Amino acid sequence: MYRSHTCGELSENNINQEVTLAGWVQKSRDKGFMIWIDLRDRYGITQLIFDEERTASDLMEKAKNLGREFVIQIKGTVIERTSKNPNIPTGNIEVLVTELNVLNNALTPPFTIEDETDGGDDIRMKYRYLDIRRNPVRENLIFRHKVTMAVRNYLSEKEFVEIETPYLIKSTPEGARDFVVPSRMNEGQFYALPQSPQTFKQLLMVGGMDKYFQIVKCFRDEDLRADRQPEFTQIDCEMAFVEQEDILNTFEGLTRHLLKEIKGVEIGEFPRMTYDEAMQRYGNDKPDIRFGMEFGELNKVTQHKEFGVFNNAELVVGIAVPGANSYSRKEIDKLINWIKRPQIGALGMVYVRCNDDGTYKSSVDKFYNQEDLAKWAEATGAKAGDLICVLSGEILKVRTQLSALRMEMAERLGLRKNNEFAPLWVVDFPLLEWDEETKRYHAMHHPFTSPKPEQIELLKTNPGEVKANAYDLVLNGNEIGGGSIRIHDKKTQAMMFDYLGFTPEEAKEQFGFLMDAFQYGAPPHGGIAFGLDRLVSILGGQETIRDFIAFPKNNSGRDVMIDAPAAIDNTQLQELCLKLDTKA
Ligand code: AMO
Repeated sequence: MYRSHTCGELSENNINQEVTLAGWVQKSRDKGFMIWIDLRDRYGITQLIFDEERTASDLMEKAKNLGREFVIQIKGTVIERTSKNPNIPTGNIEVLVTELNVLNNALTPPFTIEDETDGGDDIRMKYRYLDIRRNPVRENLIFRHKVTMAVRNYLSEKEFVEIETPYLIKSTPEGARDFVVPSRMNEGQFYALPQSPQTFKQLLMVGGMDKYFQIVKCFRDEDLRADRQPEFTQIDCEMAFVEQEDILNTFEGLTRHLLKEIKGVEIGEFPRMTYDEAMQRYGNDKPDIRFGMEFGELNKVTQHKEFGVFNNAELVVGIAVPGANSYSRKEIDKLINWIKRPQIGALGMVYVRCNDDGTYKSSVDKFYNQEDLAKWAEATGAKAGDLICVLSGEILKVRTQLSALRMEMAERLGLRKNNEFAPLWVVDFPLLEWDEETKRYHAMHHPFTSPKPEQIELLKTNPGEVKANAYDLVLNGNEIGGGSIRIHDKKTQAMMFDYLGFTPEEAKEQFGFLMDAFQYGAPPHGGIAFGLDRLVSILGGQETIRDFIAFPKNNSGRDVMIDAPAAIDNTQLQELCLKLDTKA
């Protein structure tokens, strides 16, 4: 038996007991006549004591030679501590060691294994197994497990069946590039790793499984950000014989359950907003509604004077930043520079100070009088003490820019509180999205999404206007899930491929299996997939998903610990009928 107790378990109740513990040496304090060692495992820390009076001299000697992160096993007696530590559960006791067994030596770790470590990101990732010994990382992984279990239990109780779908598949177009895997047995042919199990879960509905879910890895070769990894996990779900309303209710139930069970937060009915409304009010299809600063459109109250910039703009729009009238001229200039950076790309910003005496002072006083500015304040909901920030330009661009400013100001003002949760459904997404580069429409969600039935006709005349039965679940300004009601008949699916620029042959070649299946009694169906990494990190009060993944990739998609991706040798290349690396 390696241990009788864990390092987080012993208390006054165990005093005088003989115990065996095993773990890592967190730190040791050597006073010569007395040595204390903090022994650590996943469950906590227990203080060990060796002292000249009570400990044999060879054991004292052995204890002196222990280094940080050595793995040891000890036997000893639990005794009461003279100076107690109220900050840890085992703080009232210590173990007087009678036997010490070094299970393994350790090199000095390249960074300190403490809550606040001296290791930078790169070094921590290279030695991720040491990083995982640190409390914050371990706690995040255990937190993820708790969320995952809560999801499994909830869905299972609601009669969802977890079914695995294959990882070696044919590519499904979902917007990102595929990771591909060469096939040895089929020369010149490739599998693709799934961007999501989309078509398989639909086939499970045709197969009559009725309610499916899967906690599943998905792979997307896309540019990485704080909330994106090349391999990530979805809670993927699908239901048969449902309308949008059924899906929203079911998964609102799941989300509410998680918020209650994991965070102890009770939230009533989630607000819903159409895509158009979200864009108009927040300039964003995943608005953070924990705070206000809603957009006020100002075309009507600005485009009647001599100010050419506004007169020529498709949209003039502003937000009232609470309390920001206190910003100095210099601070406002800095803000203007911030919004003019290429990442955001605004050409400039007009501002209005809302003074405490009810007057206004704007950067365009030459063109607008107090009466005009009062109307701007009304449209943006500005109060005395606020600063109105106004941008103008092309609708989509200017909304995106102002949305970035809104989020930045919220961050600066401390309005993005990580213990507050504001979920929201965004519904009625456009079915199609125009792509300037390829000069054609793409499916905004994916090609299996059903247009709103009453708008199918509109596809012929005004495809960009057609809305889909597609929805996103947004939490604190992050898209944590998305889904849709699917097309379930061959004719509509073929028509959709046609609109997306597939020839009938291409459609048959790529999706013949799905359209064939639709001919054998496909039920109406729909579903959703949550991004588990995102959900967990937001519930955990953070927005960087990497902190909740045991072995994440860095921003260039590399695993720096195992050093992947890497070249493969010529024999392997040959077997796969791939080109030889002549340099090797
Ligand atoms: P979608 O592409 O919207 O839908 O993905 C669902 C959710 O997955 C998360 N997500 C990611 N998380 C981390 N890293 C990434 N690279 C990444 N990409 C997406 C997001 C997103 O909301 N098959 C459809 C679902 C359906 O229609 O049922 C799909 O995959 O939180």
